[in-house]
Amino acid sequence: MRGEGIYLWDAEGNKYLDLAGSAAVNFIGHGVAEISAAMAEQAAEVEFVHTSQFTTPVAEAYAEELLAFAGEHFRGGAVYFTCGGSESIETALKLARQYQVEIGHGARHQIISRQQSYHGSTLGALSVSGNKRRREIYLPMVKEFPHVGMPYCYRCAFDCTDGCRNCGQQYAAELERAIEASNGAVAAFLFEPVSGATLGAVVPPAGYLQSVAEICGRDGVLLIADEVMTGMGRTGRNFAVEHWNVMPDILVAAKGLSSGYAPLGAVIASKKVVDAIAAGSGAFLHGFTYNAHPISLAAGRAVLRYLREKNLVEAADSGRAGTPAAEFKKAIGQLRDEESVGDVRGIGLLWGVEFVVDQASKRPFAPEKNFSARVAAAALKRGLLVYPMQGSVDGISGDHLLLAPPAVISAEQIAWSVEQLAASVREAQLSLSLSLR
Ligand SMILES: Cc1ncc(COP(=O)(O)O)c(C=O)c1O
Repeated sequence: MRGEGIYLWDAEGNKYLDLAGSAAVNFIGHGVAEISAAMAEQAAEVEFVHTSQFTTPVAEAYAEELLAFAGEHFRGGAVYFTCGGSESIETALKLARQYQVEIGHGARHQIISRQQSYHGSTLGALSVSGNKRRREIYLPMVKEFPHVGMPYCYRCAFDCTDGCRNCGQQYAAELERAIEASNGAVAAFLFEPVSGATLGAVVPPAGYLQSVAEICGRDGVLLIADEVMTGMGRTGRNFAVEHWNVMPDILVAAKGLSSGYAPLGAVIASKKVVDAIAAGSGAFLHGFTYNAHPISLAAGRAVLRYLREKNLVEAADSGRAGTPAAEFKKAIGQLRDEESVGDVRGIGLLWGVEFVVDQASKRPFAPEKNFSARVAAAALKRGLLVYPMQGSVDGISGDHLLLAPPAVISAEQIAWSVEQLAASVREAQLSLSLSLR
């Protein structure tokens, strides 16, 4: 296999345009020589030390850079490095619990999260995930906390006509009721600012996240933003919460953090959380052997430098004229003309395309028809990689694609991809013998 820019080549030499960024991982493009050089340099210096014995210059410098990248709100905070998203979520959940214990709120142990969310595949992360298909058989093994609804405008439970402006508040009120019902047992609320693969890039309505943040702040519940998919520039801001001016207590990053060049995750904690632990027991009761692995950190640090030098966060801003993301937004919108496309939604370079049998009724395909997998297979034949998912309607039915190309995609490549995607949707329709226009 080989990768360069937005292309991957398989062992047989077939070329693919990576419109999924693997799985919303690659943000800077494949095969960037500066990243592998930084990793090799670090490996030659020291490949690994255990965090109980040493810190490393790369860890110190990179943590400072990440805190600055996360914004003013994280000044004086700290970064905890892991090997990926699930490890980071586990870390964030335990950090939230320890914070509450340290400040004398030992009863707070529950984590409220949302239905139709995804936070990882380890048992703790699975317990707070809402993805039915990925959870179902493990349910007897996981500790269940409340899951509240999430605003999903295309299939709004409140049948609204105002882009969910009002019902966003109803979803926020549902969270408030869940916190009240727990009688002081909630430690944190965990959310993806823009939903990831499970719902396919659903963007929250104006005002919703602000209300959520306000409720959590008022009730002593920590706010944890899972930015594994949306962080590090993917939505056109350093972190997606910036779109709504929300300041979480803990930010979780992975995927784009190293753009896939090495396994890496990070939990970025605000000063409030760090100070509480420092003033209490003094140490976070947690750890993995490969925390802060120097080679992964060298990759992540080089990725951060690269995406800044190349202005890739700006490139991913779909609200800024002339950027690849603005081009992508315009081009992907053309898919709405396809008979079986119900919704196209997203922000920056994170987009979802939802399929329906009938646009008027929004009726989904029967799950066993595997419509999104058919589209993905047709796209693959054409040399285009996408991320197919099912379950957007109720966790089981509902087909959609997630699209998350590297920010180095050109207008020409975008036009070609959307053309191939439209043809793939038509081919999937045909294969189901649906009527064509
Ligand atoms: C929002 C979100 N959180 C957490 C995870 C888990 O990350 P990982 O697969 O690196 O463990 C994912 C993975 O897709 C994700 O999208």
